[in-house]
Amino acid sequence: MRIPDIAPGGRVLALGHYQPANVVTNDDLAKTMDTNDEWIQSRVGIKERRVALEGESLEDMATIAGGKALAASGLSPDDVDLVIVATCTLESQIPNASAIVAHRLGIKSPGAFDVNAACAGFCYALATASAAVRAGSARNVLVIGAEKLSQWVDWTDRSTAVIFADGAGAAVVGPSETPGIGPVVWGSAGDKSDAIIIKDRANFLHQEGQTVFRWATTTLHPVALEACSRAGVDPSELSAFVPHQANLRIIEAIARKLGADQAVVARDIVNAGNTSAASIPLALSRMLERGEVRSGGLALILGFGAGLTYAGQVIEIP
Ligand code: UT7
Repeated sequence: MRIPDIAPGGRVLALGHYQPANVVTNDDLAKTMDTNDEWIQSRVGIKERRVALEGESLEDMATIAGGKALAASGLSPDDVDLVIVATCTLESQIPNASAIVAHRLGIKSPGAFDVNAACAGFCYALATASAAVRAGSARNVLVIGAEKLSQWVDWTDRSTAVIFADGAGAAVVGPSETPGIGPVVWGSAGDKSDAIIIKDRANFLHQEGQTVFRWATTTLHPVALEACSRAGVDPSELSAFVPHQANLRIIEAIARKLGADQAVVARDIVNAGNTSAASIPLALSRMLERGEVRSGGLALILGFGAGLTYAGQVIEIP
């Protein structure tokens, strides 16, 4: 047996994102349910979110985000050996989204699978992609986080309808002489598996908000610090902190405990809502596009959500 060329490291070569054009404001929601802009902004931090229009599918959003990341990487579809889509809101059990997206992008016969680790899914998929590149199992990997939560939310339930949204973010991962993706710290808390549930197609998303809030604000900062430590990075060296965009109060609580005052903290939730597995690549790609973070800086990403699951790693911004 022989193990093929092993890359010393993997890195994110490029990012891309897509959001539906349809903007839904808090005032729009207040017209159809008992809620208001003040409650949503003060409790969750959201001003507006994007909701896919009828006929705009998760695969459509994933394809556009993936295509943008691929174009930005300068690679051709032939250079990609593996496509991973992180999602928990695909309408079909089979086929998966990744094979469809790969086909639409002209990537010929890549390995293709979806990852369901809910809102932590992108970090799991990125770690898997990096390991595949380093092990010689793939030259380059397209990793996409894509969600259409709007089709799993009860639009008469104010406790969830005001939070969740649709979108997609993508990253191309390739080999690197120096590591650009640090070791992942991942884990789960299956004892809290009831806290966020979509039981089956006959049910909508149900969330015990306070249980998840307490868990996220008390147990995740050590994960963030451990991800820095395993990458050999002091929090003072981070130029960005990009946690899952679940709730602005959670984001700010973890950021305070991280103690990386110089780091730009992603607050994409304000205009994008909670897009589960899409939220981290969507936020980082938009921050890069707006010039809020610089290429070559270090970003700590941290996903968490249903399962409960969590994962985080330090990456070099492409
Ligand atoms: O992405 C996956 C991971 N998920 C998370 O991290 C979510 C974590 N949890 C949270 O972000 C928060 O718990 C929520 C945003 C979900 C809820 O915020 P909260 O501050 O925990 O509110 P609550 O559920 O305790 O509700 C407080 C009050 C209740 O009224 P009473 O019983 O005090 O009269 C709710 O009925 O606010 C009411 N309420 C609302 N009022 C206006 C709940 N939703 C709304 C609403 N508009 N949309």
